[in-house]
This record gives sequence, structure tokens and C-alpha cells, in this order.
Amino acid sequence: MSRASLSERAAGRRVALVPTMGALHEGHLKLIKVARELSDTLVVSIFVNPAQFGENEDLSSYPRRLAGDTEKAEAEGADIIFHPSAEDVYPKGSSTWIDVEGVSTGLCGASRPGHFRGVATVVLKLFNIVKPHSAVFGLKDYQQFVVIKKMVRDLNLDVELTGVDTVREADGLAMSSRNVYLSARERKAALSLPAALDAGKLLFIAGEREAVRIAGAAKKVIEKEELAVVDYIELCDSLTLEPVGKLGKTTLLAAAVKVGSTRLIDNVILS
Ligand code: PAJ
Repeated sequence: MSRASLSERAAGRRVALVPTMGALHEGHLKLIKVARELSDTLVVSIFVNPAQFGENEDLSSYPRRLAGDTEKAEAEGADIIFHPSAEDVYPKGSSTWIDVEGVSTGLCGASRPGHFRGVATVVLKLFNIVKPHSAVFGLKDYQQFVVIKKMVRDLNLDVELTGVDTVREADGLAMSSRNVYLSARERKAALSLPAALDAGKLLFIAGEREAVRIAGAAKKVIEKEELAVVDYIELCDSLTLEPVGKLGKTTLLAAAVKVGSTRLIDNVILS
């Protein structure tokens, strides 16, 4: 992979990377489309990264569909599919980790200890292996994007980052590789997540600026749904991810819910 990338760079071509864990859906494909526009040589990585899964999480059941993914990515213009093994990425004895302090602590970092350490480490490794000029990420994983942006700045990485808006199903549910776990009943219940964010947003548009009230309105929507359990609903500064009491110019409203055993996240920017 590195050799291919170095030779593309030496020929004056711009290399872009879209890191994924596979089970590609329209959200991933949008990232690939955006990256295609930014690059001469487009690399899509597919790697289910063990380091970002907690002990009781879904590493073993995470959907793996390499053949279909390769076809989809190539149809959107990917030039190289990089699909390393876990042993390649983490050779025996590997013991160096990237901890992006501060922005990794709240939201999903609080519910999934070690998750962002695993994400930041693998993304830095992918950057070092693929050597892209630019990389594209989705804003559905808003905190992940903030963590990676901070890592790039803190470690002087020479990679230009682009964030892409969340791609949704026609009924509003954010696309996610984990949506395949949902039964028909759970799939319906999962709609309470975008509905909750909408309720918060409506209140904001109506002039409400107290975080507790907006979070409260969103929470109510999820609590009405029997199969959905709130993990968190929070309002944070969109740059620092610090919780806010009173809303300023741009605030992140982020939520995670468990629907059955599936954990789903979504967010909206209130500005
Ligand atoms: P994965 O969940 O496969 O997502 C890969 C990329 O697709 C991420 O940048 C994510 O934000 C983006 N994405 C997922 N669903 C989206 C949607 N509905 N709309 C827009 N973008 C969406 O995120 C990861 O993998 C991993 O943590 C990774 C960065 C690859 C590191 O292992």
C-alpha cells in the first residue's frame, strides 16, 4: 500500500483516503464520491478495527462483506481497496496508542472507554501507511471527526480533512452499518432518535436557549418509545465538545440510544 501511494505521489497525483470498517452503505458512498472529487488516486480502506471495540461490544458480529464492498467502492471510483488483516495493523508486541485528551472524554467516550484511543491510533496508522494528501470522514460520527481533527493539529500531520453531512434513509434514520442488526420492530423504534433531535431543533428554532430544556424535550421523545433506551442526550460546544448550559451560536445536540442490543448515534448542529 505504501509503495503504491509513494509512487502516485511521486508522479504528482493527489491521494485521498476514505477510512471505513466496511458493510458499505450510501453514507460511505457519499464520502467516496466527495473524496473522488478531491483526488487523482482514491484509496478506500476496509478494516474492522479491534482496538476501538469494547469487551462486550459487537466486534465478532460486526458485518463483514468484502466482495460486495469492493464492488460498491469501485463503482464509485475507488482506485485502491486497502484491506489489511488485524495482524498486519497490530503486529504482536504493538504497544503504542494515541490518546486525544479532552475531546475524547465526553459523549461516546464516556460510554465507550478506550473507543477513541482505538480510533485515533488506527487512523494515524492508516495515514502513515496510505500517506494521503486528504482524508474524508462523516459528521454522523461528529465526535470522531473532532478527535481526528485535534490529532492532526496536535501531531502536525500533513493531511487535509473533510467532513461530510450525515446521509439518511428516506424516513430520517441515519445510515449505519449497525442498522442491519435491527428487527422490524426495532427499526421502527429507532426512528425515535432522529425524531428526538428534531424535537430539540424545533424548540431551538422557536427561541429556546436553555440546554436542559432542549435535552429534556428530546429525551421525552425517546422515553415514549418502549424499545429505546437513552444512553446520552447532550448539548455541547461544537468545537470543544464541552457541555453547555446556555446555547451559543453553534451547538452540537448529540444523542446515543440503545434499541434492543444495538447502539445508535446521531446528532444535529443548532445554529
Ligand atoms: P465506519 O463506521 O465504517 O464509518 C466510516 C466513515 O463513514 C466514517 O467517517 C463515518 O462517519 C462515515 N459514515 C457512517 N455513516 C454515515 C452516514 N450515515 N452519513 C455520512 N457518513 C457516514 O467510523 C468508522 O468506520 C471507524 O471509526 C474508522 C474511522 C474507519 C476507524 O476505524
